[in-house]
Amino acid sequence: MLRATLLFLLLGGALAHPDRINFPNPACEDPPAVLLEVQGTLQRPLSRDSHNSPANCTWLILGSKERNITVRFQKLHLACDSERLILHSPLQPQISLCKAPANPLQLPGGNITITYRYAGARAPMGQGFLLSYSQDCLQEEFQCLNHRCVPLAQHCDGVDACGDGSDEAGCSSDPFPLPVHLQPPLLSPRHQGHCPQHP
Ligand SMILES: *[C@@H]1O[C@H](CO)[C@@H](O)[C@H](O)[C@H]1NC(C)=O
Ligand SMILES: *[C@@H]1O[C@H](CO)[C@@H](O)[C@H](O)[C@H]1NC(C)=O
Ligand SMILES: *[C@@H]1O[C@H](CO)[C@@H](O)[C@H](O)[C@H]1NC(C)=O
Repeated sequence: MLRATLLFLLLGGALAHPDRINFPNPACEDPPAVLLEVQGTLQRPLSRDSHNSPANCTWLILGSKERNITVRFQKLHLACDSERLILHSPLQPQISLCKAPANPLQLPGGNITITYRYAGARAPMGQGFLLSYSQDCLQEEFQCLNHRCVPLAQHCDGVDACGDGSDEAGCSSDPFPLPVHLQPPLLSPRHQGHCPQHP
């Protein structure tokens, strides 16, 4: 126990360092962080020692007017009195959450902002959040692997309209096979075992 405490004290300074370079996060500065991809994940951008300062972190998802952005929560446990996640879309009243909703949220109307607010002053903090967002394509569109949307007519027309080749993958003539980095990973039995033990 004493050894563990000593080790903790010795390493404390070094371990705190990676936390500090995480913060300030660009989303917590002005102007908001702009997310150029139409799919991705977000999580609470705070570290253990950000308990003191209030936070106001905003991400802007550039969507298109006619398509929804769907937001799914893997985790949302905030201290409701001091922390909030606020989702805003141009066509809806804003949504303020501290616990995960029962269903994914479909946000219409284009540019969506997601804001995390924390009161600071050592107010309670919950466990945080982890969410994923993605653009939904219209029925008459092809959904690319990267969640961009292209007209159905561009599916299998020999031109990479998605930018990741996914609209030309698996077509009968397959002039653009899926790039290696987008193919499902091959599970090699050698990588499933234990790591070699170091002495
Ligand atoms: C957070 O940002 C919003 C929008 O810029 C602003 O209206 C609000 O007052 C800010 N809140 C804090 C606590 O800074
Ligand atoms: C957007 O989401 C709403 C539900 O919130 C749904 O009724 C509507 O059909 C969706 N629109 C598109 C274009 O996907
Ligand atoms: C979304 O935001 C971008 C960048 O701020 C802006 O250029 C664009 O016009 C906005 N789109 C809509 C539909 O408001």
